[in-house]
Amino acid sequence: MKIAVFISGSGSNLNSIIGAVKAGDINAEIALVVSNKKNAYGLNYARENDIETLVFKQKDFASREQADSWLLTQLIAHKIDIVVLAGYMRIITKELVEAFAGKMLNIHPSLLPKYTGLDTYQRALDAGDKYCGTTVHFVIEKLDAGAIIAQTKVTIEANDNIETLTEKVKQQELKLYPKVVALLCDKKIYLKDDKAFYLGEELAQPLAL
Ligand code: GRF
Repeated sequence: MKIAVFISGSGSNLNSIIGAVKAGDINAEIALVVSNKKNAYGLNYARENDIETLVFKQKDFASREQADSWLLTQLIAHKIDIVVLAGYMRIITKELVEAFAGKMLNIHPSLLPKYTGLDTYQRALDAGDKYCGTTVHFVIEKLDAGAIIAQTKVTIEANDNIETLTEKVKQQELKLYPKVVALLCDKKIYLKDDKAFYLGEELAQPLAL
């Protein structure tokens, strides 16, 4: 299996996935790291580990569709099997999503379906929620709406703020995401009729890994 990881920022999830591949916990090779930001810190993790990088600017394309079409040709040229979105701050267009249906994962810092989109921690704090967390899901065209695979819940304490919550959830993400990537590489999870399956059974609730 060949994986492409898409990033836009700090790349801590990318780094964690690289570590899991090196440890033999993910049965795949990270063949490409894609970024839409040339200064994304996470590109350093790719370079340190001799992973090929592909950086592009939306400005160089007439539309989002054209950019994603070009990306798709690159993924095909690199024989990529699985796309892992890890802090990639762009909405993926229909052609690319459909080309990787059931083969594209995203991690989102909320207990989906609650709080799709941005500012998830602030929204959880403002709502007085008892819990927040992180979700790994299959990617469909609609933002943060694909079938949910796994979640980790974190308790919101009275003295928590955005910084403490971000840190607590991030620590969980770094453990959870590599495990889900490993399951997809081993074909233990899959998408069928917009639903997530694990070991042949439709998931009645998110996996807690
Ligand atoms: C993560 O919190 C993830 O849930 C969200 O973006 C963040 C990426 O962080 N989609 P990093 O770039 O992996 O450090």
